[in-house]
Amino acid sequence: MIVSAQRPLAARGLLVTGAAEVVTLAGGLRRGPAQDEPAVAPPGTTVACLDGRIVAVGPDREAADALAEALRGSGRSPDAVDRLDADGATITPGLVDPHTHLVFAGSRVGEVALRARGASYLDILAAGGGILSTVAATRAASTEALLAHGRRWLTEMLGHGTTTVEAKSGYGLDTATELRLLEVAGRLGADGLVDVVPTFLGAHAVPAEIRAAHPDDPAAATEAYVAAVIGEQLPAVAAQGIARSCDVFCESGVFSADQARRILLAARDLALAVRLHADELAPSGGAELAAELGALSADHLGSPSAAGIEALAATARDGHPVVGVLLPTVPWFLGLAVREPARELIEAGVPVALATDFNPGTSPVTSLPLVMSMAAVSLGLSPAEALAATTVNAAAALDLPDRGALEPGLRADLVAWRVPTHAQISYWVGAELVRAVVVGGRVILDRGA
Ligand code: NIG
Ligand code: FE
Repeated sequence: MIVSAQRPLAARGLLVTGAAEVVTLAGGLRRGPAQDEPAVAPPGTTVACLDGRIVAVGPDREAADALAEALRGSGRSPDAVDRLDADGATITPGLVDPHTHLVFAGSRVGEVALRARGASYLDILAAGGGILSTVAATRAASTEALLAHGRRWLTEMLGHGTTTVEAKSGYGLDTATELRLLEVAGRLGADGLVDVVPTFLGAHAVPAEIRAAHPDDPAAATEAYVAAVIGEQLPAVAAQGIARSCDVFCESGVFSADQARRILLAARDLALAVRLHADELAPSGGAELAAELGALSADHLGSPSAAGIEALAATARDGHPVVGVLLPTVPWFLGLAVREPARELIEAGVPVALATDFNPGTSPVTSLPLVMSMAAVSLGLSPAEALAATTVNAAAALDLPDRGALEPGLRADLVAWRVPTHAQISYWVGAELVRAVVVGGRVILDRGA
């Protein structure tokens, strides 16, 4: 049951007690061997929350006393406390999904059959389908319809334990529609159900009208669109002030590393952070470019070059790590044999995060626990590595140091899981494991024991 979407800040405190295991992920970004260290608090640990933040994580009595003290200190009764009895659950930070294409209309169910008959993802896009068919459906959809669609899938994500979602534009491909999609993402976050972090992805594909203007010269069409992204879309997006970062689909046959570089440098000049779809299907210089630009994240990394992995590792050694965001449902859904080199990345010292890539073409997937299961089975991540990848490292990929761990002062976003240890979150594949979700210190979903 969803308790409330439009949440005024709770005046009362919250004590989360009775957990079999509290996994704090305290201590910041995880990389190398540390990615396997989840920081499990001893039994008898309570999490105390007030005014949307964590006040204490500690022995039951001490945490309750700290909350009473904080209430008194702000002129409130020390008894103004609600309780969530976790009853043997595992408590973790709320999950952070650092790569989704949340805002779109329609479905692409027909492409599954086309691929089964041998068409490739990029063949379908080159023929004017794929992303471009979602662009047509999205341009035609009303803002209300896009909001309703986004709410439906955000609610689904919340039910799988996600409390923060990155949401890209990229199904508008003209200035007005891109701005509308970012506005929708911003409004979805303002609902207060799940926090939404908007990203501008104008360079997702070249739209049909620009292709039509250069019928015999696809390279000229791409260049014309890059000029529009830099000259028209980016200034409007920066003036709108909703997007926090800029992304580019850098891939052979879509936008080259050189085009991505020009777009992302222009974004950086407008004070947007940068990230990119890097080496999703083939080595395209994406990982190298992410490292060169000091991007927040390099995403997909299905086929990075050895030099690309080394370039990412060097950023971590230099103290400004680019987070490698892996999306293992994508090659699986596309029927490709690609396996992201997760172990190689971790062993090279690259902090690894996981995301759903929720979108209608390559990953109609809302469940981060499912992604964690796939990462454990197919990519060789331990349960603890997978959990760090969807909490503290995912928060770092979004430059959100206020979440992803259970530590005093951080946002009070947490999940109670119906399993006695975090190792089982990625083990019960596809099960409904979430018992309760707390967002900003309020119990926003409670399914009971
Ligand atoms: O992350 N690769 C580009 N963008 C998405 C797919 C978008 C779509 O097919 O609609 C991705 O895979
Ligand atoms: Fe994506």
